[in-house]
Amino acid sequence: MGSAALDALRRLDPDGLIDFGAEQFQTDPWPVYRELRRSDPVHWIAANRMFFVLKYEDVAHALTDDRLATDFPVRASRRIFGSTMLDADGAGHRALRQGFGALFSAKAVGGYGAQLIAEAVEATLAPLAGCTNIDFAQHVAARLPYEVTTRLLGVPPQDGPWLREHVRAVARGLDFPGGPLSEAQAAESVLCDYLRDAARHSTRAAGSAVPSLLDLLVRRAGSPDDPRFGGTAVLFLLAGTETSEAALCTMMLALLSQPGPDTVVDWSDGDAVAAGIREALRWEPPTQSILRYATDDLTIRGVHIPRRSAVLLSLASANRDEEVFDEPDRWWPARPARRSLTFGAGPHTCLGIHLAYAEFEALAAALGRRFTDIALDGPAAPLRGHGFRRPVRLDLRWRQRRRQGGPRS
Ligand code: HEM
Repeated sequence: MGSAALDALRRLDPDGLIDFGAEQFQTDPWPVYRELRRSDPVHWIAANRMFFVLKYEDVAHALTDDRLATDFPVRASRRIFGSTMLDADGAGHRALRQGFGALFSAKAVGGYGAQLIAEAVEATLAPLAGCTNIDFAQHVAARLPYEVTTRLLGVPPQDGPWLREHVRAVARGLDFPGGPLSEAQAAESVLCDYLRDAARHSTRAAGSAVPSLLDLLVRRAGSPDDPRFGGTAVLFLLAGTETSEAALCTMMLALLSQPGPDTVVDWSDGDAVAAGIREALRWEPPTQSILRYATDDLTIRGVHIPRRSAVLLSLASANRDEEVFDEPDRWWPARPARRSLTFGAGPHTCLGIHLAYAEFEALAAALGRRFTDIALDGPAAPLRGHGFRRPVRLDLRWRQRRRQGGPRS
């Protein structure tokens, strides 16, 4: 370990502890991850009483190890959503997850998704006609995922801003370090009531081209009043919005802020943009780590993990493991394809992965069609956070494309 890097680590982590709440760690955790990957890749964080796993191979393996469970009473997600697929293991988890392929498989998303996403993108970008400077974080990233997720759930898209206020409160409770659990639980309960009410009054016709996620959830639970309905409905609302909002900012930041001949993105080249988005999400995953609990004694890289230990798996550090990715700190869209762990792996792999990519790629294509000279407007605010990492704002400038044969709009 280089002495400058070690000094930097000591400054960040003076007592051999990682301080998740420290501003420097929240904005720039990368030097800490790098040094720990080299010097202590299964690191005991005494302050949090948990093991922190940082190497790609170990994280990928842990995500498929059934001795590392999600079902544990103190997990924040369990205390906020109740018992959902996120906090279930084995056969119980498989049963809770079964049936969602009808909405979330690549084929399903390729079918209904194109129309739904096109409408959502149009609704997001239409109000920006004529604008030359925007805060992308507020006007696009905070809107598009709600335009998509409300349509998918089958609730009015105009409720998006109200929903977002409550979703944010839930997300703060799930973050690391977490905000007040009571506020998150109260917000979850408001969202539950809203979604139950919406499900009772659902009017989407059976056989509609766009299936309703709420109707599917009701069919599975038996009734909107069944406890299995509410928590899962709120989980989908949050999962479809918070991470996507963060990811949209990361994607734009990466696409626009990385100079160099092989990093400039041609907006009209769908494949290049798609590769840029995938690489952006490897480089800066919105969810930096996920928590598991050991149901048995086990060993990771020679470190003994006693039963009932909390084990934090660093997706972010794994995505920058130099044994797997060359020059891992560089955003490099032409990088040889290698699966990042941004969407997890194993039984809990993100259900929304195809929807998320379809949404991001459709937005990028629409931006390229409507605008030209898209650029950052001044130095970008840093990405910040651990659970839902994003910048506070993201100022962009662009010019409307001339309509063929018409005046500049
Ligand atoms: C860039 C956007 C997204 C990212 C980075 C992301 C990331 C993740 C990750 C890391 C997990 C695994 C959690 C674990 O193993 O404990 C997960 C699970 C999940 N995601 Fe996503 N997600 C995104 C978008 C979405 C969308 C759009 C939806 C749906 C509308 C969604 C629905 C879910 C669900 C339901 C689970 C739980 C799966 C299970 O426990 O079996 N996600 N997501």
